[in-house]
Amino acid sequence: MTLHGPDADIDDLPARAVRLITDRLANTELGRTTPPSELLPLFEDAITSHGLGVDRAWSLFETAVADHTLALDGPRYLAFIPMSPAAAAIWMDAVVGATSFSAESWLEAAGAVAAENQALDYLRALAGMPTEAGGAFCSGGSIGNLSAIAVGRDVAGGRRLVAVADTAHASVDNSLRLLGMEALVVPTGPDGRFTGELLASSLATTGLAAELAVVVASAGSTNAGVVDDLRGLAQVAHAHDAWLHVDGAYGGAALILDECRELFDGLGEADSFIVDPHKWMFCTAGTCAVLYRRPHLAALTHRQHGPYIEVLHTADPTDEWNPSDYAFQLTRRPSGLPFWFTLLVHGTDALGAAVRASMTTTAYARAQLAALPGIEIIMQPQLTVLLFRKSGWDRGRWQQWSKDLLDRGIAFVAPTTWKAETVGRLVFLHPLTTDAIVDQVIDTLR
Ligand SMILES: Cc1ncc(COP(=O)(O)O)c(C=O)c1O
Repeated sequence: MTLHGPDADIDDLPARAVRLITDRLANTELGRTTPPSELLPLFEDAITSHGLGVDRAWSLFETAVADHTLALDGPRYLAFIPMSPAAAAIWMDAVVGATSFSAESWLEAAGAVAAENQALDYLRALAGMPTEAGGAFCSGGSIGNLSAIAVGRDVAGGRRLVAVADTAHASVDNSLRLLGMEALVVPTGPDGRFTGELLASSLATTGLAAELAVVVASAGSTNAGVVDDLRGLAQVAHAHDAWLHVDGAYGGAALILDECRELFDGLGEADSFIVDPHKWMFCTAGTCAVLYRRPHLAALTHRQHGPYIEVLHTADPTDEWNPSDYAFQLTRRPSGLPFWFTLLVHGTDALGAAVRASMTTTAYARAQLAALPGIEIIMQPQLTVLLFRKSGWDRGRWQQWSKDLLDRGIAFVAPTTWKAETVGRLVFLHPLTTDAIVDQVIDTLR
């Protein structure tokens, strides 16, 4: 049995893989989820001493794995924060998986790192950060937040207090626990927006200003898609010598739209910023850009040392850039390459048009919902999250709605909690989510 090289025993596996990817690109169905009692028996005795061979193994992959997943990347996935990878990104991701470029260091994968850095610099310029800002791609927004807040902690000396709004993503809370930091949770008002004024008044009433190490702002909160008052927060944070981290994992993509730019006013003042191209910038899973205003500070926190890797480190880190210096990671696939390649193939105008398509779909859905009796839009969407209430519906009724839509293959939707009330929530990130799909969903609320 040959595992490696051109004579590996894999029969027609390449053709099967290409066919699956091609079919998936053409498929707009929602997929399904399956209870463990039904699914797990399919896997019994799959790992054997002699192997199943490609035919049986692939068939198990198709029937037990691929057939029992929801299409997070499809136009009917309107829950949580979906994704909508472009075809170019999907194919380049397959190539990245095949090549195993070791993109932790310039030494090992100079070309891949240079390409990723070109994409990072594009994002840096959109964010309005200074030219010397830089960072790396890491696996996702959670690791990006953790990595950036860790740098803020190290810069703050002994201070350990982090001001966060009650709207911050769950990974921020987890990061603080992992980093041994304390949260000062600032409640937001009905608009869900964390402002410089709210931060200043919270510091004044608690008397904790001297402890402040980091302020975390959202540029597109997960639950409601709200961009915080980045300029006001930067002013207050920096007045207290604190680090400003901006989590734009989801919403940062809207920077590409001129008409959205002013929402992000002040972002250029951030000490660190993340955006996930795998959310709303049409990339495959595993791609978060983390950027630092002063990258050398991040290298002090994240560079790994050991006798066998010192050879990677040059005297001037800006000369030969090592992505492993800028997030909690060493071995890494160059997850920014699919994003870089998509930018090269289609250009920034096409990317902008695809982002704008979801804004247009959101506006359409908002108008349709607002016209329904008994439905109330909770706030005007800044980005592509819609929150709404329906008179008489409690948590159980919303959950039933979500289950019904999934069972009928219409859409995957999930209710949420907004200011202690269970409400409906729809998120639009896929340019192929048509008005007809929106109509199908909204019809179920009549
Ligand atoms: C604002 C925000 N930050 C961070 C994250 C976490 O990102 P990931 O799921 O890539 O770890 C999310 C995920 O939805 C998010 O919306």
